[in-house]
Amino acid sequence: MTIIVTGGAGFIGSNFIFYSLAAHPEDRIVCLDKLTYAGNLSTLQPVMDDRRFRFVRLDICDREGVYALFEEERPDAVINFAAESHVDRSIEDPSVFLQTNVVGASVLMDACRTFGGVRYHQVSTDEVYGDLPLDRPELLFTESTPLHTSSPYSASKAGADLLTLAYFRTYGLPVTVSRCSNNYGPWHFPEKLIPLMIVNCLHDRPLPVYGQGLNVRDWLYVEDHCRAVDMILRRGRVGEVYNVGGNNEMRNIDIVRLICRELGKPESLITYVTDRKGHDLRYAIDAAKIRRELGWQPETRFEDGIKRTISWYLEHRTWWEEIISGEYRDYYDRMYGDR
Ligand code: NAD
Ligand code: DAU
Repeated sequence: MTIIVTGGAGFIGSNFIFYSLAAHPEDRIVCLDKLTYAGNLSTLQPVMDDRRFRFVRLDICDREGVYALFEEERPDAVINFAAESHVDRSIEDPSVFLQTNVVGASVLMDACRTFGGVRYHQVSTDEVYGDLPLDRPELLFTESTPLHTSSPYSASKAGADLLTLAYFRTYGLPVTVSRCSNNYGPWHFPEKLIPLMIVNCLHDRPLPVYGQGLNVRDWLYVEDHCRAVDMILRRGRVGEVYNVGGNNEMRNIDIVRLICRELGKPESLITYVTDRKGHDLRYAIDAAKIRRELGWQPETRFEDGIKRTISWYLEHRTWWEEIISGEYRDYYDRMYGDR
């Protein structure tokens, strides 16, 4: 197969490329990425010389460019990881989220149907379901939970999900959608909770916890997510949505305390800051469908995954130091300066 992987210079897309090239030596991967602030070509350095890999700098909204790439590569499948992915940035400015996450997805799907029923997988998120209350632990998101979004980010992702399912019903395009919970692991951009706390700890900087830190997320090691996407692409039923989750709910404050402990830093670094607007309280995924139909389940326990992740950040300082010395500084000042 030739697979176009969009957003492959970002966190999950790059992990997916490494996973897929190792798991399927017969496949070819073409990574299409605009290289926004979140995309990093140095991440893909280990596969740049692999004959089964090609990198193309392109915006998924660029219809002409995308069609030309399809003409040249004649892909069998497209996996769309490309997105604006950070909730806080979507609160600052929703417009680019609508453009990339909704319009970009439609351009890719138009190319898929124009070039003859190319398989399309939309990488979505559990955030499309909105949130769950903190005092009803028995409630979980299933694939039939109504979409009920809170942020411009999640609304744009929900828009793309609906569009994907509409392309299946209207044009018969062979699509699947996965909705995954919070990922963590290597190559995670340090604007997100876990890498931000690791990086700040390593600099003995304040650890900004939103509100009281009681919001709950369901954490999954990134490679487990990559394996789920791979299984859905190969064996998932077209027209279907699959939830993917870690069955590992944790409060933000407990994650931050754990990182302090692992790095031998004092909890006095923790600083409670103004809460995120519209902050979702709790996400929790019921992943019974993908377990039942495809036999997928998480393989990495959080206790192991978080240790591995922290070690990775200790061993890859150049990667993240480069990031935090650039545009990130302005972002950080804007976001946390007088919070
Ligand atoms: P990321 O922000 O780390 O990476 C996004 C990548 O997309 C970057 O390489 C960026 O350059 C690229 N990109 C952005 N706009 C583009 C455009 N217009 N054209 C081409 N490329 C573009 O994101 P991530 O955390 O790796 O998330 C990947 C996908 O998984 C997203 O669709 C996100 O919604 C979804 N998701 C993420 C998580 C998570 O915990 N990170 C969980 C569930 C689902
Ligand atoms: O659930 C899947 C989603 O997980 C993905 O769709 C998103 O792309 C991804 O960014 C992530 O969204 P969250 O908003 O849950 O992730 P984030 O790392 O931004 O925040 C996790 C929690 O930590 C959230 O409750 C907000 C809180 N937080 C975050 C930051 C960056 C803090 O308390 N302080 C911080 O500085």
